[in-house]
Amino acid sequence: MQRIFIVLVVVIATFVSATAQTNNKLVAASVARGKTIYLQRCMVCHQADGGGVPKLNAPLDASSTVNGSDISKLVKYIVKGLNDRIEIDGEFYANAMPAANDLKDQQIADVLTFIRNNWSNKAGPITLTQVKQIRSKLK
Ligand code: HEC
Repeated sequence: MQRIFIVLVVVIATFVSATAQTNNKLVAASVARGKTIYLQRCMVCHQADGGGVPKLNAPLDASSTVNGSDISKLVKYIVKGLNDRIEIDGEFYANAMPAANDLKDQQIADVLTFIRNNWSNKAGPITLTQVKQIRSKLK
């Protein structure tokens, strides 16, 4: 009985670890694809170090929104752009962010997963399913 239990625990542990590894690989692939999009579409304003440009372009590194749980906000910014001159972590930014509505759902998931997992940011990945759901509700 005890032996069966041990075998069972080992089997479950192996399965859980394999699933976690597959998941890590998927996130790493998404980050890599997202980086390419970032370099082409975002870096000009948000800079290579994610620090933005003071008073012009908001930083993405250490941003509470980028690292936050309100994913719909992030997807909306990419799809619709952002020109609200809102206060972001205590600062205002004069530039306007253009919409990147030509990006596919997967590309949006990738670029957001990249900015949430680069520089000092350590937030969860954003999935294709999440982007699809949020985008379909945006007018
Ligand atoms: C032309 C410059 C420009 C480009 C290109 C640009 N952004 Fe922005 N971004 C801004 C500005 C300016 C703001 C702040 C807008 C405001 O205050 O209304 C901003 C805000 C943001 C925010 C919100 C930050 C926060 O802390 O709330 C995110 C997220 C973001 N951008 C991501 C991206 C991503 C990802 C791309 C590439 C797909 C991108 N931006 C391309 C200028 C740009």
